Amino acid sequence: MRKFCETYLKKLHIGNITTESNVLMAPLAGYTCYPFRIMCRKLGAGLAFTEMVSANGLKFNDKATARLLYTDAAETLKAAQLLGSVPSAFENACKGGYTADYDIIDINMGCPVPNVVKNGEGCALTQDLRLASRIIEACKRSGKVVTVKFRPGMNREKIVVSEFARMCEDSGADMITVHGRTRNMMYDGEPVYEYIAEAKRSVNIPVIANGGIHSEEDAIRMMDNTGADGVMIARFGLEDPMIFAELTGKVTKETRLSLIMGQADMAEKCFDELSAMEHIKKIASYFMKRLPGTKSLKQEMYSCGNLLQLREILVRIFGETEK
Ligand SMILES: Cc1cc2nc3c(=O)[nH]c(=O)nc-3n(C[C@H](O)[C@H](O)[C@H](O)COP(=O)(O)O)c2cc1C
Repeated sequence: MRKFCETYLKKLHIGNITTESNVLMAPLAGYTCYPFRIMCRKLGAGLAFTEMVSANGLKFNDKATARLLYTDAAETLKAAQLLGSVPSAFENACKGGYTADYDIIDINMGCPVPNVVKNGEGCALTQDLRLASRIIEACKRSGKVVTVKFRPGMNREKIVVSEFARMCEDSGADMITVHGRTRNMMYDGEPVYEYIAEAKRSVNIPVIANGGIHSEEDAIRMMDNTGADGVMIARFGLEDPMIFAELTGKVTKETRLSLIMGQADMAEKCFDELSAMEHIKKIASYFMKRLPGTKSLKQEMYSCGNLLQLREILVRIFGETEK
Protein backbone atom coordinates (compact mmCIF):
# COMPACT_ATOMS: atom_id res chain seq x y z
CA MET A 1 0.00 0.00 0.00
CA ARG A 2 1.18 3.53 -0.74
CA LYS A 3 2.19 5.64 2.25
CA PHE A 4 0.67 9.10 2.71
CA CYS A 5 3.96 10.41 4.03
CA GLU A 6 5.84 9.29 0.93
CA THR A 7 3.25 10.53 -1.55
CA TYR A 8 1.52 13.56 -0.14
CA LEU A 9 3.18 14.84 3.03
CA LYS A 10 4.33 18.46 2.71
CA LYS A 11 4.50 21.72 4.60
CA LEU A 12 1.73 24.25 4.11
CA HIS A 13 2.35 27.94 3.47
CA ILE A 14 -0.61 29.83 4.87
CA GLY A 15 0.01 33.56 4.55
CA ASN A 16 3.30 34.08 6.38
CA ILE A 17 2.95 30.85 8.38
CA THR A 18 4.52 27.53 7.51
CA THR A 19 3.21 24.35 9.10
CA GLU A 20 5.22 21.18 9.68
CA SER A 21 2.62 19.03 7.93
CA ASN A 22 -0.50 19.19 5.77
CA VAL A 23 -2.46 16.87 8.06
CA LEU A 24 -4.71 19.00 10.23
CA MET A 25 -6.96 18.37 13.24
CA ALA A 26 -10.42 19.85 12.73
CA PRO A 27 -12.30 22.11 15.11
CA LEU A 28 -14.71 19.99 17.16
CA ALA A 29 -17.12 21.61 19.62
CA GLY A 30 -16.71 20.04 23.04
CA TYR A 31 -13.41 18.33 22.24
CA THR A 32 -10.58 20.38 20.76
CA CYS A 33 -9.50 22.15 23.93
CA TYR A 34 -5.85 22.89 24.71
CA PRO A 35 -4.80 19.40 25.95
CA PHE A 36 -6.33 17.69 22.95
CA ARG A 37 -4.78 20.13 20.47
CA ILE A 38 -1.33 19.73 22.05
CA MET A 39 -1.60 15.94 21.79
CA CYS A 40 -2.53 16.08 18.08
CA ARG A 41 0.29 18.50 17.32
CA LYS A 42 2.83 16.27 19.12
CA LEU A 43 1.66 13.34 17.01
CA GLY A 44 2.25 15.28 13.78
CA ALA A 45 -0.81 17.44 13.06
CA GLY A 46 0.35 20.62 11.30
CA LEU A 47 -2.40 22.61 12.99
CA ALA A 48 -5.15 21.87 15.50
CA PHE A 49 -8.07 24.30 15.72
CA THR A 50 -10.03 25.41 18.78
CA GLU A 51 -13.71 24.62 18.66
CA MET A 52 -15.98 27.35 17.28
CA VAL A 53 -16.26 30.35 19.55
CA SER A 54 -18.97 32.98 19.10
CA ALA A 55 -17.40 36.19 17.76
CA ASN A 56 -20.21 38.13 19.38
CA GLY A 57 -19.85 36.25 22.67
CA LEU A 58 -16.26 37.45 23.07
CA LYS A 59 -17.67 40.84 24.13
CA PHE A 60 -18.78 39.25 27.38
CA ASN A 61 -15.94 38.27 29.67
CA ASP A 62 -17.21 34.85 30.65
CA LYS A 63 -15.18 31.97 32.07
CA ALA A 64 -16.45 29.42 29.54
CA THR A 65 -15.06 31.42 26.62
CA ALA A 66 -11.73 31.88 28.37
CA ARG A 67 -11.53 28.09 28.77
CA LEU A 68 -12.25 27.50 25.08
CA LEU A 69 -9.41 29.81 24.09
CA TYR A 70 -6.95 28.74 26.80
CA THR A 71 -3.48 28.29 25.35
CA ASP A 72 0.17 28.79 26.29
CA ALA A 73 3.66 28.85 24.78
CA ALA A 74 3.74 25.06 24.30
CA GLU A 75 1.21 25.47 21.51
CA THR A 76 3.58 26.78 18.90
CA LEU A 77 1.04 27.62 16.19
CA LYS A 78 -2.31 28.73 17.51
CA ALA A 79 -5.49 28.58 15.45
CA ALA A 80 -8.84 29.80 16.81
CA GLN A 81 -12.17 29.35 15.06
CA LEU A 82 -14.87 32.02 15.21
CA LEU A 83 -18.57 31.73 14.45
CA GLY A 84 -20.94 34.61 13.73
CA SER A 85 -22.56 36.78 11.10
CA VAL A 86 -21.64 40.36 12.02
CA PRO A 87 -18.44 41.71 10.41
CA SER A 88 -17.75 44.26 13.19
CA ALA A 89 -18.06 41.51 15.84
CA PHE A 90 -15.44 39.46 13.96
CA GLU A 91 -13.14 42.46 13.65
CA ASN A 92 -13.42 43.22 17.37
CA ALA A 93 -12.93 39.55 18.26
CA CYS A 94 -9.78 39.33 16.10
CA LYS A 95 -8.34 42.51 17.57
CA GLY A 96 -9.34 41.76 21.17
CA GLY A 97 -7.46 40.23 24.08
CA TYR A 98 -8.95 36.74 23.91
CA THR A 99 -7.41 36.01 20.51
CA ALA A 100 -4.26 38.12 21.02
CA ASP A 101 -2.02 35.05 21.25
CA TYR A 102 -3.55 33.35 18.24
CA ASP A 103 -1.73 33.33 14.90
CA ILE A 104 -4.61 32.11 12.76
CA ILE A 105 -8.31 32.94 12.77
CA ASP A 106 -10.49 30.37 11.04
CA ILE A 107 -14.01 31.44 10.13
CA ASN A 108 -16.78 28.86 10.47
CA MET A 109 -18.94 28.96 7.35
CA GLY A 110 -19.92 25.30 7.49
CA CYS A 111 -21.83 24.61 10.71
CA PRO A 112 -25.17 23.00 9.69
CA VAL A 113 -26.92 23.08 13.09
CA PRO A 114 -30.46 24.55 12.76
CA ASN A 115 -30.07 27.24 15.43
CA VAL A 116 -26.81 28.43 13.92
CA VAL A 117 -28.15 28.50 10.35
CA LYS A 118 -31.32 30.27 11.53
CA ASN A 119 -29.07 33.07 12.89
CA GLY A 120 -27.46 33.49 9.47
CA GLU A 121 -24.20 31.95 10.78
CA GLY A 122 -22.14 28.90 9.77
CA CYS A 123 -23.33 27.28 6.56
CA ALA A 124 -26.01 29.98 6.04
CA LEU A 125 -23.17 32.23 4.86
CA THR A 126 -22.77 30.11 1.72
CA GLN A 127 -26.04 31.79 0.65
CA ASP A 128 -24.74 35.33 1.17
CA LEU A 129 -21.38 35.80 -0.52
CA ARG A 130 -21.35 39.58 0.03
CA LEU A 131 -21.71 39.21 3.78
CA ALA A 132 -19.23 36.32 3.89
CA SER A 133 -16.73 38.50 2.02
CA ARG A 134 -17.22 41.41 4.45
CA ILE A 135 -16.57 39.03 7.36
CA ILE A 136 -13.30 37.81 5.85
CA GLU A 137 -12.19 41.39 5.14
CA ALA A 138 -13.09 42.39 8.70
CA CYS A 139 -10.93 39.58 10.11
CA LYS A 140 -8.06 40.46 7.78
CA ARG A 141 -8.00 44.01 9.14
CA SER A 142 -6.58 42.53 12.37
CA GLY A 143 -3.40 41.61 10.51
CA LYS A 144 -3.79 37.93 11.42
CA VAL A 145 -3.68 35.02 9.03
CA VAL A 146 -7.28 34.18 8.10
CA THR A 147 -8.68 30.85 6.90
CA VAL A 148 -12.24 29.77 6.07
CA LYS A 149 -13.92 26.39 6.57
CA PHE A 150 -17.08 25.84 4.56
CA ARG A 151 -19.38 23.34 2.88
CA PRO A 152 -20.07 23.25 -0.88
CA GLY A 153 -23.62 24.55 -0.38
CA MET A 154 -26.92 23.97 1.39
CA ASN A 155 -27.90 21.00 -0.78
CA ARG A 156 -27.11 19.43 -4.14
CA GLU A 157 -29.29 21.96 -5.93
CA LYS A 158 -27.45 24.89 -4.36
CA ILE A 159 -23.76 24.13 -4.93
CA VAL A 160 -21.68 27.32 -4.74
CA VAL A 161 -18.28 25.80 -4.12
CA SER A 162 -16.30 27.42 -6.98
CA GLU A 163 -17.66 30.94 -6.56
CA PHE A 164 -17.42 30.69 -2.77
CA ALA A 165 -13.79 29.55 -2.94
CA ARG A 166 -12.95 32.43 -5.31
CA MET A 167 -14.77 34.91 -3.08
CA CYS A 168 -12.67 33.70 -0.10
CA GLU A 169 -9.44 34.21 -2.02
CA ASP A 170 -10.49 37.59 -3.42
CA SER A 171 -11.47 38.76 0.09
CA GLY A 172 -8.03 37.92 1.44
CA ALA A 173 -8.37 34.42 2.92
CA ASP A 174 -5.01 32.65 3.22
CA MET A 175 -6.37 29.08 3.07
CA ILE A 176 -9.73 27.33 2.73
CA THR A 177 -10.97 24.01 4.04
CA VAL A 178 -13.83 22.36 2.18
CA HIS A 179 -15.95 19.80 4.02
CA GLY A 180 -17.22 17.73 1.09
CA ARG A 181 -20.76 17.29 2.45
CA THR A 182 -23.64 19.68 1.78
CA ARG A 183 -25.56 21.20 4.69
CA ASN A 184 -28.49 18.80 4.37
CA MET A 185 -26.11 15.82 4.65
CA MET A 186 -25.11 17.09 8.10
CA TYR A 187 -22.35 14.64 9.17
CA ASP A 188 -23.46 11.51 7.33
CA GLY A 189 -22.88 9.98 3.94
CA GLU A 190 -19.88 10.06 1.65
CA PRO A 191 -18.23 13.45 1.11
CA VAL A 192 -18.24 14.39 -2.58
CA TYR A 193 -14.65 14.57 -3.82
CA GLU A 194 -15.66 16.51 -6.92
CA TYR A 195 -16.86 19.51 -4.89
CA ILE A 196 -13.46 19.74 -3.20
CA ALA A 197 -11.70 19.28 -6.56
CA GLU A 198 -13.76 22.18 -7.96
CA ALA A 199 -12.60 24.42 -5.12
CA LYS A 200 -8.99 23.40 -5.73
CA ARG A 201 -9.27 24.25 -9.44
CA SER A 202 -10.76 27.67 -8.61
CA VAL A 203 -8.08 29.22 -6.38
CA ASN A 204 -4.34 29.52 -5.79
CA ILE A 205 -4.40 29.54 -1.98
CA PRO A 206 -4.03 26.17 -0.19
CA VAL A 207 -7.18 24.02 -0.21
CA ILE A 208 -7.68 21.46 2.56
CA ALA A 209 -10.03 18.51 2.10
CA ASN A 210 -12.25 17.38 4.96
CA GLY A 211 -14.83 14.66 5.51
CA GLY A 212 -14.97 10.93 6.08
CA ILE A 213 -11.27 10.18 6.62
CA HIS A 214 -11.00 7.11 8.85
CA SER A 215 -7.72 5.59 7.69
CA GLU A 216 -4.53 6.22 5.74
CA GLU A 217 -6.26 4.69 2.72
CA ASP A 218 -9.10 7.22 3.01
CA ALA A 219 -6.62 10.09 3.27
CA ILE A 220 -4.77 8.93 0.14
CA ARG A 221 -8.05 8.48 -1.75
CA MET A 222 -9.10 11.98 -0.72
CA MET A 223 -5.81 13.45 -2.03
CA ASP A 224 -5.90 11.36 -5.24
CA ASN A 225 -9.43 12.46 -6.06
CA THR A 226 -9.38 16.12 -5.08
CA GLY A 227 -5.86 17.38 -5.79
CA ALA A 228 -6.10 19.15 -2.41
CA ASP A 229 -3.06 20.49 -0.58
CA GLY A 230 -3.79 18.59 2.60
CA VAL A 231 -6.37 16.82 4.71
CA MET A 232 -8.32 17.71 7.82
CA ILE A 233 -9.49 14.93 10.09
CA ALA A 234 -12.31 15.38 12.61
CA ARG A 235 -14.10 12.46 14.28
CA PHE A 236 -11.46 9.85 13.56
CA GLY A 237 -8.89 12.10 15.21
CA LEU A 238 -10.88 11.61 18.43
CA GLU A 239 -11.10 7.87 18.00
CA ASP A 240 -7.48 7.30 17.11
CA PRO A 241 -5.17 10.34 17.23
CA MET A 242 -2.30 8.02 16.21
CA ILE A 243 -3.59 8.63 12.66
CA PHE A 244 -1.55 11.86 12.74
CA ALA A 245 1.67 9.94 13.41
CA GLU A 246 0.72 7.37 10.79
CA LEU A 247 0.08 9.94 8.05
CA THR A 248 3.11 12.06 8.84
CA GLY A 249 5.48 9.11 9.29
CA LYS A 250 6.28 10.19 12.82
CA VAL A 251 7.83 7.52 15.00
CA THR A 252 6.27 7.56 18.46
CA LYS A 253 6.30 5.39 21.54
CA GLU A 254 2.89 6.65 22.62
CA THR A 255 0.13 4.15 23.41
CA ARG A 256 -3.55 4.78 24.05
CA LEU A 257 -2.76 4.57 27.78
CA SER A 258 0.07 7.12 27.62
CA LEU A 259 -2.04 9.44 25.48
CA ILE A 260 -5.03 9.37 27.82
CA MET A 261 -2.75 9.83 30.86
CA GLY A 262 -1.17 12.78 29.07
CA GLN A 263 -4.66 14.24 28.64
CA ALA A 264 -5.28 13.74 32.37
CA ASP A 265 -2.01 15.49 33.31
CA MET A 266 -2.64 18.48 31.07
CA ALA A 267 -6.33 18.80 31.88
CA GLU A 268 -5.53 18.69 35.61
CA LYS A 269 -3.07 21.56 35.16
CA CYS A 270 -5.28 23.89 33.17
CA PHE A 271 -8.87 23.13 34.21
CA ASP A 272 -10.72 22.67 37.51
CA GLU A 273 -11.22 19.02 38.58
CA LEU A 274 -14.77 18.75 37.25
CA SER A 275 -13.95 20.14 33.80
CA ALA A 276 -10.79 18.04 33.65
CA MET A 277 -12.74 14.86 34.40
CA GLU A 278 -15.40 15.75 31.87
CA HIS A 279 -12.76 16.15 29.16
CA ILE A 280 -10.89 12.94 30.04
CA LYS A 281 -14.11 10.87 30.12
CA LYS A 282 -15.20 12.18 26.72
CA ILE A 283 -11.85 11.41 25.10
CA ALA A 284 -11.55 8.02 26.83
CA SER A 285 -14.97 6.96 25.57
CA TYR A 286 -13.94 7.81 22.00
CA PHE A 287 -10.72 5.80 22.49
CA MET A 288 -12.89 2.87 23.71
CA LYS A 289 -15.05 2.80 20.60
CA ARG A 290 -13.05 -0.03 19.14
CA LEU A 291 -12.40 -1.90 22.39
CA PRO A 292 -14.85 -4.77 22.77
CA GLY A 293 -16.24 -5.78 26.17
CA THR A 294 -15.65 -2.47 27.94
CA LYS A 295 -19.28 -1.53 28.62
CA SER A 296 -19.16 -2.05 32.38
CA LEU A 297 -15.77 -0.32 32.71
CA LYS A 298 -17.21 2.59 30.77
CA GLN A 299 -20.13 2.81 33.20
CA GLU A 300 -17.66 2.71 36.09
CA MET A 301 -15.63 5.46 34.45
CA TYR A 302 -18.67 7.69 34.01
CA SER A 303 -19.79 7.27 37.61
CA CYS A 304 -16.41 7.89 39.22
CA GLY A 305 -16.15 11.17 41.07
CA ASN A 306 -12.49 12.17 41.40
CA LEU A 307 -9.35 12.26 39.30
CA LEU A 308 -7.44 9.70 41.33
CA GLN A 309 -10.14 7.08 40.84
CA LEU A 310 -10.49 8.03 37.21
CA ARG A 311 -6.79 7.44 36.59
CA GLU A 312 -7.05 3.98 38.19
CA ILE A 313 -9.95 3.04 35.95
CA LEU A 314 -8.13 4.29 32.86
CA VAL A 315 -5.18 2.02 33.68
CA ARG A 316 -7.59 -0.90 33.97
CA ILE A 317 -9.24 -0.04 30.67
CA PHE A 318 -6.25 0.83 28.52
CA GLY A 319 -3.40 -0.88 30.38
CA GLU A 320 -4.82 -4.34 29.62
CA THR A 321 -5.05 -3.66 25.90
CA GLU A 322 -1.50 -2.36 25.54
CA LYS A 323 0.28 -5.60 26.50
C1 LIG B 1 -19.27 16.82 17.67
C2 LIG B 1 -18.84 17.66 16.51
C3 LIG B 1 -18.48 18.99 16.72
C4 LIG B 1 -18.07 19.80 15.66
N1 LIG B 1 -17.67 21.09 15.91
C5 LIG B 1 -17.22 21.86 14.89
C6 LIG B 1 -16.76 23.19 15.12
O1 LIG B 1 -16.73 23.69 16.27
N2 LIG B 1 -16.33 23.90 14.05
C7 LIG B 1 -16.34 23.38 12.77
O2 LIG B 1 -15.93 24.06 11.83
N3 LIG B 1 -16.76 22.14 12.54
C8 LIG B 1 -17.18 21.38 13.55
N4 LIG B 1 -17.57 20.08 13.30
C9 LIG B 1 -17.38 19.52 11.94
C10 LIG B 1 -16.01 18.86 11.79
O3 LIG B 1 -14.96 19.77 11.98
C11 LIG B 1 -15.86 18.20 10.40
O4 LIG B 1 -16.00 19.18 9.41
C12 LIG B 1 -16.89 17.10 10.17
O5 LIG B 1 -17.06 16.28 11.31
C13 LIG B 1 -16.47 16.23 8.97
O6 LIG B 1 -15.23 15.60 9.19
P1 LIG B 1 -15.14 14.03 9.63
O7 LIG B 1 -15.98 13.27 8.64
O8 LIG B 1 -13.66 13.74 9.55
O9 LIG B 1 -15.70 13.91 11.01
C14 LIG B 1 -18.03 19.28 14.34
C15 LIG B 1 -18.41 17.94 14.12
C16 LIG B 1 -18.82 17.14 15.17
C17 LIG B 1 -19.22 15.71 14.90
